[in-house]
Amino acid sequence: MRFTVVTILPELIEPALAAGVVGRAREAGAITVDTVNPRDFTSDRHRSVDDTPYGGGPGMVMKPEPLLAVIAHAARPQPASAELAAGQAQTAAETAALAPHRILMTPAGALLTQARVRELAALPHVVLVCGRYEGVDERVIELAIDEQLSIGDYVLSGGELAALVVIDAVARFVPGVLGEASSVDDESHSAGLLEYPQYTRPLKLAAPDGERAVPEILTSGNHAAIAAWRRRQAIARTGQRRPDLLARFRPAAADRKLLPPPLHARTHLALVHHPVVDRTGAVVTTSLTNFDIHDLARSSLTYGLAGYHIVTPVASQRDKAEHIARLWLEDAGGEHRARALELVRTAASVDAVIAEIAASHGAAPLVVATSARGDAFPGVARRSAPELVAEAGLDPAPLLILLGTGWGLADVLLPSVSRVLAPIDGAADWNHLSVRSAGAIVLDRLFGR
Ligand SMILES: C[S@@+](CC[C@H](N)C(=O)[O-])C[C@H]1O[C@@H](n2cnc3c(N)ncnc32)[C@H](O)[C@@H]1O
Repeated sequence: MRFTVVTILPELIEPALAAGVVGRAREAGAITVDTVNPRDFTSDRHRSVDDTPYGGGPGMVMKPEPLLAVIAHAARPQPASAELAAGQAQTAAETAALAPHRILMTPAGALLTQARVRELAALPHVVLVCGRYEGVDERVIELAIDEQLSIGDYVLSGGELAALVVIDAVARFVPGVLGEASSVDDESHSAGLLEYPQYTRPLKLAAPDGERAVPEILTSGNHAAIAAWRRRQAIARTGQRRPDLLARFRPAAADRKLLPPPLHARTHLALVHHPVVDRTGAVVTTSLTNFDIHDLARSSLTYGLAGYHIVTPVASQRDKAEHIARLWLEDAGGEHRARALELVRTAASVDAVIAEIAASHGAAPLVVATSARGDAFPGVARRSAPELVAEAGLDPAPLLILLGTGWGLADVLLPSVSRVLAPIDGAADWNHLSVRSAGAIVLDRLFGR
């Protein structure tokens, strides 16, 4: 495979590719890397490659003419073989297959992924165009670039380091570059997961806080158990560090056996009437609303929850909630609702719900607050619905979602709350949903198929 780097600083490229895996791959002829300099395609005395931006603004922009000329030079078709070089005609298809793929390195490009890296490794020739200054004239992109790639959401002073990243990552997939073909398949990102933890000798490492031993399973000799442990570690670590990746990961049937029971079946909803705030921000106790009991019970059953708790310190209100639930349970024409109302429980406080869940599941719940405000529960980790599912789905602990009545949950709950769900936002800048609607939307975002 061939890489051509278009750069005004070729001296940055060569040293970085002289050693290690890529250096050896070049020596063995598995890849070749050459550079071309836009300055060699200028016509003025100063060999200038940049000019001031139209419309004003800071910095300089790379001029189109030298770049178009150097890219055309770098991308000129290569004969497929010695015979073709000797003058044999090439078909249009052969020429197209051999046409170099021209990539501009830019922070405004698509993020480079391992999946894209693998695809690029199948190409015969990649031309990597490195920007400098404020970037390149847009017409270069329109006329001579096939793809724009970024290596991350930050800005480098030039595209050379980014091009080196592409060469290094792509070269590892070129046949003959890495010793063991399987090593690329096992790594972080190859299967949409981060890699499991790795250990080597010594078995026990002296550390300031005692001794760090290699996990016993790895020395057990039980290869199936080791593979299962590694897979579970990879999934768990991806959930902790990159919930965005895990949210896109589709576990296979074998993976599901390694994971805890489905999250919805371990999830409880609590409708909190105290402590909540009123319009002035004062902590108050709100009264029950008949439909909240009924509608949220039906939503809870629809999404397969383990329980729905009405929380109020007022004993007569708890009695009333139980009475209402019972009425529907006993309603002869409402059998279809009965199962939903069976989920309803009452409690005097959020702490009492937490204690009840801990007792029934054998583990304390992860308590998640909801709020219409983005600044509620300061300092508590925020999660989008898919991130929460990714994180909590791996931990066998139950989940408790708190819905606030009145003007929302009071911050005095802060010590009990471990996560806050991102507010529900529609298309308008107004999001004062009824608690029944908010609860249904939250459940659908978490568990809707
Ligand atoms: C200072 S940057 C220009 C940034 C540009 N003004 C912008 O905001 O998009 C100069 C050059 O560095 C390269 N570069 C910077 N950050 C990059 C990234 N994250 N990925 C790929 N290339 C990058 C590009 O080639 C870019 O043209």
